[in-house]
Amino acid sequence: MKFPEYRPRRLRKNEIFRRMIRETHLGPEDLILPLFVCPGKSVRKPILSMPGNFQLSIDQLIEEVKEAKSLGIPGVILFGIPEKKDEVGSQGYAEDGIVQRAIRSVKEKVDGILVMTDVCLCEYTSHGHCGVVKDGDVVNDDTLELLARQALSHAKAGADMVAPSDMMDGRVGAIRDALDGNGFQDTPIMAYAAKYASSFYGPFREAAESPPQFGDRKSYQMDPANGDEALREVRLDLEEGADMVMVKPALPYLDIIYRVKQAFNIPVAAYNVSGEFALVKAAAQQGWVDGELVMMEVLTSIKRAGADVILTYFAKDAARRLGG
Ligand code: PBG
Repeated sequence: MKFPEYRPRRLRKNEIFRRMIRETHLGPEDLILPLFVCPGKSVRKPILSMPGNFQLSIDQLIEEVKEAKSLGIPGVILFGIPEKKDEVGSQGYAEDGIVQRAIRSVKEKVDGILVMTDVCLCEYTSHGHCGVVKDGDVVNDDTLELLARQALSHAKAGADMVAPSDMMDGRVGAIRDALDGNGFQDTPIMAYAAKYASSFYGPFREAAESPPQFGDRKSYQMDPANGDEALREVRLDLEEGADMVMVKPALPYLDIIYRVKQAFNIPVAAYNVSGEFALVKAAAQQGWVDGELVMMEVLTSIKRAGADVILTYFAKDAARRLGG
């Protein structure tokens, strides 16, 4: 193929040609909406660094889930902001914890949309780390039991899928065992398998009130410089029983999404995280970029890289544009 016989522009002539040969299709069914649930009634507290996102009390959460469903979005993922925090994050696995109550309520009032849950300690611990802290260290094995308890409590409340985001070694296996041992063999696990120690989580930590109170997360989340290691992490999680794996963040890690999809041929999720969202929103607010078009380009590129599902704060806006 060479010029002048071959002219790629021939098939770019107009939108009908372009639509006909388009390789990547994005639909509302590809999107999962992250939601923050907090105690109280009629609470709809804006998250300043994430325009259009809120901390929602359960009654408001229900409305949001209904809207997501009406737009054709297949699932939401819940993050909890508990009333109180402690050393071991006990509100994370409490039967009447905020997320557990939210799951029950959504399941009772809305059907036809999946309720997924983030399984992690950082929103529930006073120190803000994703695991148990001893002598200033985040201790791996002691954390596993707490994560398993939390995942099980979500399943008992009716969660359709649990998603561990802590990055402790062995957590997927521990959670699988706990679920299987209690009659939840059919509850799938979406593992945050390749989760990087990223600076793109800033706005989320404001939203979830979960920044680490000392140090950082580099002893458990991955080094942004590593790609091969992501494949090892994914392999481990699959061997331990993960049904889907996630790469997070998404846009700065498109190569990782691509490699994971190529290497394993399994359902891959990508988390278009809070900082990715905030960057686009901020530039759009300044009038420096067209926020809607950048949003669609970002989501399309994540799908093109190999993601089957995208967790994104753009889910409602994108679904609306996509005619959901
Ligand atoms: C919990 C968790 C985080 C995010 C998802 N689950 C924060 C973190 O690891 O610090 C980030 C999501 C986002 O930035 O949108 N561990």
